[in-house]
Amino acid sequence: MAQYAGFCKGVKRAIDTAKDIGNEYGKALTLGPIVHNQFVVDYLAQFGVGAIDSIDYLDQVEKNTAIVLRSHGVGKAVYDRLEKEQIQYVDATCPFVKAVHKLAYKAYTENKDVIIVGDPTHPEVIGILGWTDNKGYVLKNADNIKDLPKLNRDIVVVAQTTQTDENWKEITNTLKDLYSNIKVYNTICKATSERQSAAIDLAKEVDLMLVVGSQSSSNTMKLAKVCNNQGATTYQIESVADINKNWFFKNMTVGITAGASTPDWVLKEVIQMTEELLNEVNDLKKIEKGEVL
Ligand code: F3S
Repeated sequence: MAQYAGFCKGVKRAIDTAKDIGNEYGKALTLGPIVHNQFVVDYLAQFGVGAIDSIDYLDQVEKNTAIVLRSHGVGKAVYDRLEKEQIQYVDATCPFVKAVHKLAYKAYTENKDVIIVGDPTHPEVIGILGWTDNKGYVLKNADNIKDLPKLNRDIVVVAQTTQTDENWKEITNTLKDLYSNIKVYNTICKATSERQSAAIDLAKEVDLMLVVGSQSSSNTMKLAKVCNNQGATTYQIESVADINKNWFFKNMTVGITAGASTPDWVLKEVIQMTEELLNEVNDLKKIEKGEVL
């Protein structure tokens, strides 16, 4: 197992909050799925927690239904609308994401240009951008730098909390070469860097890496990417159901890690199944050689 894997504090806090609200009021709605993991979404459904895709569907929400803002955070306009329409909400935005909102909003209100290093389609980035009134710029990779318009004002750069250090460094180093009026704030969350470096360390030592988490989870995909970059054969799986027996061979070492939105029970099942399959393969080889088990 990687030293750090699975639920981060921010995700755990958001899940617990949604569960508590569901338990207390019998129902709650998150703006977008609580995390990018169907197992967690299904688990919370038992407590009356559902989801609406976006604030655009608020009109269809029954009165007295509490809205839970998930750990990814939302833009200022969403808070403004909730307040204006006096809709009850509970803010489970991760404090680390909130800190990025503050930086982006401060820079925007000080008339600075804001650059966000991240995936423009990810809800966290959409939320951060919302604190610049959608006037900031999002760079997914260093190639996107050439598409920036001419920036004459002071520049503030922040990161989506789940970025890889590699991408962040590449982009910010290039930006620093291009602009002198620039301030960079590395807002990559510690939980993300810890999970990524633990995954890298493990990937270096093993024959195969299993990365557990949803295909739509940004931080899980990045874990798989950093493991792949180490040259380890890497499979990203959502649960035990995706494990293929043929991946395993005698005396191999398998490393396992999991994204921040992957629940413990899914991870435990994967560990158990992997151990069983490895034992099976090793036993089978012994039998073929005529060794007594
Ligand atoms: Fe928060 Fe970091 Fe998790 S930003 S949601 S603790 S990955």
